[in-house]
Amino acid sequence: MPGLPELNLILLGPPGSGKGTQGERLQEDFRLPYYATGDILRAAVKEGTEVGKQAKEFMDRGDLVPDEVIIGVIAERIQQAEAEDGFILDGFPRTVPQAEALDQKMKELRREITEAILIDVSEDEVVRRLGGRRTCEANPSHIYHVEFDPPKKEGVCDLDEGKLIVRDDDKPDVIKNRLATYREKTEPLVDYYDERGILNHVDGKQSPDEVEERIHGIIATLRREEEEGM
Ligand code: AP5
Ligand code: MG
Repeated sequence: MPGLPELNLILLGPPGSGKGTQGERLQEDFRLPYYATGDILRAAVKEGTEVGKQAKEFMDRGDLVPDEVIIGVIAERIQQAEAEDGFILDGFPRTVPQAEALDQKMKELRREITEAILIDVSEDEVVRRLGGRRTCEANPSHIYHVEFDPPKKEGVCDLDEGKLIVRDDDKPDVIKNRLATYREKTEPLVDYYDERGILNHVDGKQSPDEVEERIHGIIATLRREEEEGM
């Protein structure tokens, strides 16, 4: 959006909190590129690239892929021309070393992360959501839930008629490990961004429309403060 200060936004939150659901909406709302590391890695696995080969076993277990594998993937994307006015990150950073590497990269580009939004949901809710999630095979950012957000026709994506599938890591044991990994490795980032004064919380238990509206409110406040030079 010309004339507006850049928005370099991080979506934080446990598995199933709705990062992908919101990311898909926000990229259209703000016309910014959206980089979801989970989607990028799943595509790499499918294509059989070197990154995909390195990532697969970690993803299948619900562990994080090594920092050095993912940092390069994101560093490459945020310096593309399309990300000049800002970007939305979903699933990155996920460890303190990743956050530090991102800060370092942004410094090199003479930019900084402007906002981190934590989408808060309980673990019970996560289990309910991931148990019923379906994703479009052709475009994984098209996300549904059999109960909370069903497609018009069962098993078929409303947007491109792609087949709806269950993600390999949405199995009960793997979900449990993803949650434990989140608590151990990713939750420390809540303090990391809070200490830098750029963290806001959103109650993720609300409907997707309400969560989206709340995020818009946060960004509007941020832009007002930037205009006022706060
Ligand atoms: P990734 O794909 O990022 O998985 P995740 O973080 O576990 O998050 P999810 O995609 O499962 O959930 P989400 O928050 O996007 O929720 P969604 O919108 O789909 O990562 C997968 C794996 O890749 C990792 O385990 C790791 O191995 C690897 N990886 C990725 N990034 C990495 C990194 N930086 N470093 C190392 N490894 C990395 O919603 C979930 C469901 O809920 C859907 O069915 C949806 O319809 C429904 N829903 C959404 N919002 C609402 C709502 N408000 N009310 C009711 N239902 C809702
Ligand atoms: Mg996601």
